Amino acid sequence: LATSNSISENFLKCLSHYSKSSIPISKYVYTPNNSSYSSILQSSIQNLRFLSSTNPKPQFIITPVHDSHVQASVICSKKHDLQIRVRSGGHDYEGLSYLSDVPFVIIDLVNLRAIDVNVKDNTAWVQAGATIGEVYYQIAGKSITHGFPAGTCPTIGVGGLLSGGGLGTMMRQYGLASDNILDASLVDVNGRILDRKSMGEDLFWAIRGGGGVSFGVIVSWKIRLVPVPPTVTVFTVTKTLQEGATKLIHRWQERADKFHEGLFMRLIIQVVDGENKGETTIQVSFESLFLGGLKELLPLMEKSFPELDLKAKDCTETSWINSILYFAGYRNRESMDVLNNRTLQPKNIYKNKSDFVKKPISEIELEEIWKVFLEGEIRPLLIWEPFGGRMSEIPESETPFPHRAGNLYNIQYVMQWEEEGIKASEKHIERMRKIYKYMAPYVSKSPRTAYLNYRDLDLGINEEGSNTSYSKASVWGRKYFKNNFKRLALVKSKVDPGNFFWNEQSIPPFAL
Ligand code: FDA
Repeated sequence: LATSNSISENFLKCLSHYSKSSIPISKYVYTPNNSSYSSILQSSIQNLRFLSSTNPKPQFIITPVHDSHVQASVICSKKHDLQIRVRSGGHDYEGLSYLSDVPFVIIDLVNLRAIDVNVKDNTAWVQAGATIGEVYYQIAGKSITHGFPAGTCPTIGVGGLLSGGGLGTMMRQYGLASDNILDASLVDVNGRILDRKSMGEDLFWAIRGGGGVSFGVIVSWKIRLVPVPPTVTVFTVTKTLQEGATKLIHRWQERADKFHEGLFMRLIIQVVDGENKGETTIQVSFESLFLGGLKELLPLMEKSFPELDLKAKDCTETSWINSILYFAGYRNRESMDVLNNRTLQPKNIYKNKSDFVKKPISEIELEEIWKVFLEGEIRPLLIWEPFGGRMSEIPESETPFPHRAGNLYNIQYVMQWEEEGIKASEKHIERMRKIYKYMAPYVSKSPRTAYLNYRDLDLGINEEGSNTSYSKASVWGRKYFKNNFKRLALVKSKVDPGNFFWNEQSIPPFAL
């Protein structure tokens, strides 16, 4: 105990020494002896698979309220040989923002979440610990004709979301969240604060899709706001296999990436109870946003997707901010205040995976796929999100996110369950892996690509610290980044050659 107390004291002394803020950092450091340690640790753990008491715990949790607290945290963690895990919203699918097998510190940015919206010049400065819901709320509070193209779940942190990409309902019109970053403030491995100018274009390129934490701690982003019409239209049409879902899904695959850029129609495909007792079927929901009114939408749908037979009564005209609530599952006229609730999203136990599709899957093949989904008790859910539009115009190498022209849509495989314990986990994860394996012939190949923000450690992990191998990491790295992986590794060699910012899927320094 004496030893751990003295480690604690020395670490705290170091933090106070390097923190230049008049606000004492010691008030924001938690050790396991502190009564709020557990509640802070658990506060934003989104995947309950990682909540168990047997998971490794950090020696310190620091919740900085000032940039210089972040600087001191980096400097002192390095001096004391402690690994850093950086957490903004805690939504990492594999828990990388709060778990580690070696002695570690969590820098939790929950207190750094100021948002400064400037509608006159169409920009906002957003601190990394803000959730995307808080950002949407602040924008909508200032203007009904400004928006930001990012994710659909309001509780995601902008630290992780923007540094890994950020797919959402306006991506066909405006690209990803990371395509709309203008500047950033980052604490590097030496504890320096850098902006776009002082970090240089290579590092600025890397943190817009390459995952921030391989390169430093992002403290804030400057984002570009985009124009949205005062009236948008939302609708969801749901069909089962018996109602012709397979044919419609097939048509959707041929068309969805070519629709008008303002039309985003994603599919939620799931196993549901059938009409007869004990029977199951596949149900698809065409969940959609159109950046315009009904008058414009109906003729457009008639031309581009008449088979869906969309009627005015299926649609709701509303504001952009209400479309955010709609996609987040709030469809009963909830106030936009819910967007400020950081624990709004129900928590689950889950394992997800992702794929990109370049060629429509035929109706016959879809029917075979449904048979696999309908096997057994466990019910997977799929989300298919259409690309095309702006997503196809941005070159593959413009940012680290390489999944651009040629990709029709992205598949997210979602496996959620309620039973706790290893046995239940194994059973569900095994089922997920089986489905993923089954889908191989229908999705991108060489490499079979994946989306970084739908993190999946099955794709491969780094060996510890100095043993991290560039060539081994290329196996999973090329899946997330294709040819951009090499440039990411070259940037890493320049800004963090000692590989201090290591994690199971961090970018390794380049080596031949
Ligand atoms: P978290 O804090 O766990 O961080 C994720 C990763 O980023 C970790 O590696 C972490 O260390 C790093 N990081 C976090 N803050 C950092 C910082 N300030 N500086 C440097 N590195 C930092 N995605 C999407 O594109 N569109 C969507 O609609 C959705 N929807 C969605 C719904 C739900 C319920 C979940 C759980 C997830 C999504 N996602 C998503 C995926 C989401 O984009 C992804 O999990 C993000 O990385 C989460 O960012 P957080 O900051 O919340 O996570």
